[in-house]
Amino acid sequence: MDRDAAIGIFDSGIGGLTVLHAVLSALPNEHLIYLGDTGRTPYGTKSAETITRYAVESADFLVERHLKLLVIACNSATSTALDTLRAHVRVPVIGVVEPGVRAAIRATRTGRVGVIGTEATIGSGAYTRALRAENPKLEVFTRACPLLVPLAEEGWTDGAVARGAVETYLASLARSGIDTLILGCTHYPLLRPLIAEVMGPAVTLVDSAEETARAAAARLDADGLARPAGPGSTSFFVTDAPERFVRIGQRFLGARVESAVRVER
Ligand code: DGL
Repeated sequence: MDRDAAIGIFDSGIGGLTVLHAVLSALPNEHLIYLGDTGRTPYGTKSAETITRYAVESADFLVERHLKLLVIACNSATSTALDTLRAHVRVPVIGVVEPGVRAAIRATRTGRVGVIGTEATIGSGAYTRALRAENPKLEVFTRACPLLVPLAEEGWTDGAVARGAVETYLASLARSGIDTLILGCTHYPLLRPLIAEVMGPAVTLVDSAEETARAAAARLDADGLARPAGPGSTSFFVTDAPERFVRIGQRFLGARVESAVRVER
């Protein structure tokens, strides 16, 4: 492995661009390869077995491209396939759950933590297990919010429809007395202002994207594999026609996605 090897980042589709954005800010000198499995998105409504199979295929595609680190930029894939991928590939693997959990542990004062995510993420229990492994006394409150993924992709992140969905999903969490809420889905940072408003100022929102980027930087430093100087580069691959990814990607990445290459899976 050498410093010029790339960091591979994959997601079920477009949402992982929020993680890529954080990685780009934290590690501007690195070569990044992003794979969005747009042909098979969403993962969040699928079974653990299917998500794991897709995740292994995505990892294989990236690992063939000379990696030094693999980042699973998808909560559903991390929740269901992290252990399988760690056993399957030879490079270090960082998911979004552990970094998000660490940030939540730092943030909570009351020990009452909420987690929102897709059906697959919440159903897996991965966040609850990871939180309790750090502190068995934590009280964890979870809620699957599947409609928030298409709303974010549609750009409906404020207004009556988004507000109705967010208020309905978060009603029980808002009553539960949590002081920290993990945004356990790549799409939720786009709805962050609305979620913050609905939960109120007493609740700290944790976005695992930034923590994941920090974890990636720390891992490269520990391994002596960080690129000391730029410029870095980013290339995009998708498993369906790139047009929608390129068009919508800007909202998730915070910058233009210049182009993406379609690969067959
Ligand atoms: N990327 C997924 C996640 O973070 C959300 C979209 C999907 O369901 O595929 O869980």
